[in-house]
This record gives sequence, C-alpha cells and structure tokens, in this order.
Amino acid sequence: MTQNQIQSKYHRRDSLALIEALSQLTCPQSQLHHQFPMANRTTLRVGGPADCLFIPSQDEDLANVVRHCSRHQVPWMVVGKGSNLLVRDGGIAGVVIQLNHAHFHRIEFHPEKSLICGAGSRLKAVANAARDASLTGMEFLEGIPGSVGGALRMNAGAMGGEIFDLLDSVRFMDSSGEVHDLQKYQLQYHYRSCPSLTSHIALSACLSGRPGQTEDIQARMKQSNEKRWSSQPAAPSAGCTFKNPSSLPAGKLIDQLGLKGTQVGGAMVSDIHGNFMVNNGQATASDFLNLIQFIRQTALEKTGIHLETEVQIVGEEA
Ligand code: EPU
Repeated sequence: MTQNQIQSKYHRRDSLALIEALSQLTCPQSQLHHQFPMANRTTLRVGGPADCLFIPSQDEDLANVVRHCSRHQVPWMVVGKGSNLLVRDGGIAGVVIQLNHAHFHRIEFHPEKSLICGAGSRLKAVANAARDASLTGMEFLEGIPGSVGGALRMNAGAMGGEIFDLLDSVRFMDSSGEVHDLQKYQLQYHYRSCPSLTSHIALSACLSGRPGQTEDIQARMKQSNEKRWSSQPAAPSAGCTFKNPSSLPAGKLIDQLGLKGTQVGGAMVSDIHGNFMVNNGQATASDFLNLIQFIRQTALEKTGIHLETEVQIVGEEA
C-alpha cells in the first residue's frame, strides 16, 4: 500500500466536489466511484468507504490525479488486490487508487529471460506467464493472492522466496506525476517492506527468471499450491497478520500460546494457522483490531516478544 499522507486541508464532506474535479482531468474509460465500500476490495472483507475509488485507464490520468491531489493537499493511497490490508470501519479519506484496468495488467516476455509486468497484474498470472515462457524461479508467486505493485511495496514472499529476489528494475510515478526507472540496487528493501515505494506508485517491474523445463515448473507450482492449501485457511483473511519475529515464526508462537480459535466478534484466529485471522462473515475492522491487540499483548506478557503487524492498517475510526 503506497500512500501520500500529506498535512491535509481536505475535508471528507468535500468528496463530491473532489470527484467532480477529478472527472474533468480523466478520460471516460477511467473510473471514479464515490463512497466506495472498501470491504468489497479487501480479502478480509471489512472496511468503510473510500471517499473516491479511482481506477485509471492510462498513465496520463493517473498523473493528472496525483498532481491534483498534491496541489490541493488531498490524501491519496494506492491499493493492490487488497490482500494485505485492514481498512478501519470509518473508511479512507481522499482518493484510493487501484490499478485494476487492463492497461496495468500487461505481462510481456523479453528474450533476455525476463518478464515486464504491469503493477496491476496478479502474481498468479506472472507465475503462469513464467511457466509458459519456460522460466523458473517464479513458482512461489503462484500462491500469493496479490498484485505486482502490492508485492513490490511489501517485498511479498512465500515458500522461501521474495519478489526482490527476482527484481531487476521498477518503473514508478512520483507524487508530481513524473515517471522514473530505478534498478534494484537503487531501492531500499527489507523483509516484507520496500520503504522506497511508500510515496511512489509502481507502474511496472522487470522480473528475471532462469531457463527451465515447463513440466518441472508446473510440478513445483502444483507442489507449492498443495502445501498452501494444506497449511493455510481458505476463509477470508489478509494472509499472515504479523511479521515473523527473529526467534520463531509468529504462527508457531500464537499456536504455542494456545490462541488458535480465539474470537472477538466475527474475527477469529484460524484453527489451521496461528498467524491467520479469519472473517467468520460478520466481522468488523474493529473486531480484527481488538483481536490483534489481544494477541500482541498476550505474546508480550507471556514471552516478551513484540509482534509487529505485517498487515497494513489504514483508514479512520468509525
Ligand atoms: N506453525 C505452527 N503452528 C501454526 C502455524 C505454523 O507450529 O499454527 C509452524 C509450522 O509448522 C512451521 C513454522 O511454524 O514449522 C512456519 O510456518 P509456515 O511454514 O506456515 O510459514 P510462516 O512463516 O508462518 C510464511 C509467510 C507466508 C507464506 C508461508 C509459506 C510470513 C509472515 N509468512 O509463513 O506468507 O505463505 O511462509 O511459505 O513471512 C503472508 O505474507 O501473508 C503469508 C501468508
């Protein structure tokens, strides 16, 4: 999740005027939604409305909107597939940008063993494209339910790999609408974080693989898929809630503390994996926040370990 939390003069009651102003700056193929319920755009299925959900159909519209926001001190943020996001019940002030249009979904193969992937493309689609091009190394992306842009921001990973292992370069837009290209070595990144992308919008990434056999790649993708379905819940969640502390995996810690099955309202610690909080259908964001707080407090009191959330918590209280 990339965001620009400037000291804002914007008031949420001005949201309709904001939409009207933005509609003058964008073409009809780009979408602007007023008061859009973020629960419909997050895998956790909670969260209040975004004042404006903006789905650009071209780079120029995106640049116009971020420039307008910078000029008028309107906060904005980019969301990927909403698979690592907990939006508070009061929703999000300003503009939420989602690169869901086909323009940002393109995946192109380059003969020097790389894929140029639009920031809106699904990681599963990238894994499939790599398999079809007989490129190995990207199999682990198959099971991460996010987009390339979100994965870059979070340095997302699974099965021992992370997206920065594959990265050559990133094209991004800054908050004045200018487009830049940076090589991997020019970016700051750590376990589950890329601070360089917090206030920039990733547009595409060049990912590299190694030559492989399509059948072997397919077999590894199947193996990773089976491992995931046997060890992670299918119920709505935002994936792992906490980063793994250095001493032991957060899921194992929560399990050892006997906290699996703990429930606050409709939010519950999964019975299958301790680091997943699932929505039983009726949860609110505040149920999840209270459950997270309870787990962090219990872990601290009983083990001295500070659990840090991996899930990005955004938005306003109800
Ligand atoms: N474990 C338990 N009890 C549990 C859960 C896990 O004892 O309830 C044990 C497992 O048996 C294993 C160890 O803890 O020995 C680690 O568990 P797992 O293999 O499931 O990996 P993880 O560290 O919990 C990480 C990523 C996941 C990714 C998996 C699979 C983080 C925070 N999580 O989980 O990523 O899917 O590896 O490779 O790094 C995510 O980032 O949202 C996410 C789900």
